[in-house]
Formats: sequence, C-alpha cells, structure tokens
Amino acid sequence: MKYRTYAAVAEQREIASGIYSLWLTAEQIAGEARPGQFLSLYSRDDSRLLPRPISICEIDRAAGRLRVVYRVAGQGTEEFSRLLTGETLEVLGPLGNGFPLKKKNAFLIGGGIGIPPMVQLAKELREQAEIQIIAGYRDELFLTDELEAEGPLYIATEDGSAGTKGTVLDAIREHSLTADLIYACGPGPMLRALKTYAEERNMECYLSMEERMACGIGACLACVCKSAEVDGHTHVKNKRVCKDGPVFLSTEVEL
Ligand code: FES
Repeated sequence: MKYRTYAAVAEQREIASGIYSLWLTAEQIAGEARPGQFLSLYSRDDSRLLPRPISICEIDRAAGRLRVVYRVAGQGTEEFSRLLTGETLEVLGPLGNGFPLKKKNAFLIGGGIGIPPMVQLAKELREQAEIQIIAGYRDELFLTDELEAEGPLYIATEDGSAGTKGTVLDAIREHSLTADLIYACGPGPMLRALKTYAEERNMECYLSMEERMACGIGACLACVCKSAEVDGHTHVKNKRVCKDGPVFLSTEVEL
C-alpha cells in the first residue's frame, strides 16, 4: 500500500557539501516502509510536475518518521534543501520493492548517494545475519557514524583521503573480505563491476538501480532497464526500475 500525503519536516541539515539529511513525519508511510524502498517528493513549483525519487535511509516506525539523504542535483532538490522544520512537503510512498532480507553472510555495499539505503538495511539485517558494510565515496565522508553503529565498516575513497584508495572492490580485496550474498546501491559502473564480481563467484547479488527515474509509479517508462527475460508489461526485455525494482537480482538485469 502506498500513500500520497503531506509530510512535516521534523529536521533537516547539510551533512556533507551538497548532501542533506531530511527527517519527515509521515506515519502511514513509515509504518509500511522497508529498506531499499523509496519516496517520491513533490516540488511546490507547478512547473516541475515530476516528483523526485529519493531512497529511504532510515525508518523510525515508533515515531512515524522517515529519513532521506539526498544530493542537491537540480532545482527540485535545491528547493527541498531549503525546507525548514515544521514546513510540509507532498510525498508519495513507500515505492518500489525493497531488498529481500536473507539470513546469509552479506556485504552491504553503497557508492556515493547509494550509501543511505544501507543504513536501514543494516539495522534490519544485523539481528539475523552477519554483515560487513563497504562504502565508497568520492572524497567527503557522510553517514559513517550511522553505518559503524550497525556493523564493521570498510571505506574506499577515489582520492585516497580515507580508507582504501580506489573502489569498493579494492576495499574488499585489501581486507580479504568474503561473503555469500551482496546487497548494493550506487552508480552504474559500480553496479556493473559488482554484477561481474558476483557472477564469477556464483554469489547471490541484489542491485538497487534507483538512479534513473521520473514518474516513480510505472507510468512513463523513463526508467526501463534491460532485463534477461521478456517483461509481462511491455512485452520486451525491459523492466521498470521504479515498479519492478529498484532492487533486482543481478542475473535478472543487463547493465
Ligand atoms: Fe516512470 Fe518508472 S519512472 S515508469
């Protein structure tokens, strides 16, 4: 069940340059949301009709709140970044399928603005599975305290300013980490590399591909990705990231 509602801003702050953490009060959505799902946030400016899909970073079901962490990347997100405590914002969610929770030794891998969904995923998995978190940054770090609270955290940075210099896979190799399953969210090149890594090792691997979206509800087909199988909706080898995903088994999609 998804809800379209006005959510109140409970708290907003900039946690790294251009990256904002926004806590929203939306009881019904918080009550149903699962890790790996996303929200569509609507602009107040009618000239921007399409909402912005933003992944859920944390869920506080008891308080009826959700946290999203997003990068300012255009006028829509710039408008959100100016929202103050007590102001309201139109929100649709929870959307998408989310990550399946498996009792397996798992890597939780986030790259850049794909790191936030790993916070809630780690919170919900750590009771039932052994987890290792690997986070890849360009340079500036964010959400490290939240991730470290949930499990061992390994960091990779492109410029080598913290952790391993290089990619998340470089960090996995440097620390000789092993797991049976991968959960990942991040930029296309990272997901492609992880798909290859997982398939070479016969590992179950779930990739969240939430980067490319527009309507967020399966109507516009702006988000299709190539799938291994013919899709029942479009009758071609396509999947809608917003509706069929954003989380896919690596073997289901072509990257
Ligand atoms: Fe419109 Fe997916 S974003 S169909």
